[in-house]
Amino acid sequence: MLKGRHLIDIMDFSVEEMNEIFELAHEIILRREQFSHVCEGKLLATLFYEPSTRTRLSFESAMIRLGGKVIGFSDAGSSSVSKGESIADTIRVVGCYADIIAMRHPKEGAPKVASMYSPVPVINAGDGGHQHPTQTLADLLTIKSIKGTLSNLKIGCCGDLKFGRTVHSLIKAMSRYEGNSFVLISPKELKIPDYTRKEMDNKNIDYSETDNLEDIISSLDILYMTRVQKERFFNEEDYIRLRDSYILDKGKISRARKDMIVLHPLPRVNEISYEIDSDPRACYFKQVKYGMYVRMALMMKLLGIQ
Ligand code: NCD
Repeated sequence: MLKGRHLIDIMDFSVEEMNEIFELAHEIILRREQFSHVCEGKLLATLFYEPSTRTRLSFESAMIRLGGKVIGFSDAGSSSVSKGESIADTIRVVGCYADIIAMRHPKEGAPKVASMYSPVPVINAGDGGHQHPTQTLADLLTIKSIKGTLSNLKIGCCGDLKFGRTVHSLIKAMSRYEGNSFVLISPKELKIPDYTRKEMDNKNIDYSETDNLEDIISSLDILYMTRVQKERFFNEEDYIRLRDSYILDKGKISRARKDMIVLHPLPRVNEISYEIDSDPRACYFKQVKYGMYVRMALMMKLLGIQ
């Protein structure tokens, strides 16, 4: 039963529960009109303490397309946080207004704290450099829809694996399906955090690390590109030095398999050159669409709507 639950970490849901969400998302894709009133009378609150366009608008359009309504803020400076209100109090108050809450916060663990005080389901819409479970649901629905499976895939994760929360959640989720392996491609300064590496070792996850995309691109089923997370750097110089580490262009992708797919949570800065957009392997805009459908399915499930 997903009704009334929170989604803070992708591991909060079992594989069966994730599959249930994907099935509902597929049904929504096939029969959109039938779902356009199911959330009538429901209210989503989007509490975004960190800049976002995509994820916030994805949640908002998802709720509106289900017939529900949306309140919230996208700038913590305009909320009572600037008066010194705690997350616990904000959530208790918002929980009196809304039926479900999506929260993004620059501090790791903030949505977890929120869920401890909330009378309604809380969805983590990204917490610092930690986790981003709904992006992962979008990624998995995209992979399942395009590749036809979530198993036996070789996934290359490229870019900022240290601060990139989408990759942290993606590895956790994909390693639960049989036969998947990972190639982690990053400069040494942006390797996955030690706690993630330890988790991977403990679970005997099949992975290797490299700093060279060109050498391994031909072996991949999926290439998951990420942006270097400028806002989490302590100094501009390091950011500028690392920003251009990997740029996927025609030359590099020419070595890849014809059925490899390129994913990216977006926003892109310069890590995928625009010339790639017309390549049939570029699936990052489809991924945006799947993201909205999966959030529709997720909110229906958490609200207990049949
Ligand atoms: C990602 C995020 O916020 O972590 N974007 C998103 O949710 N679509 C990736 C990023 O900002 O680079």
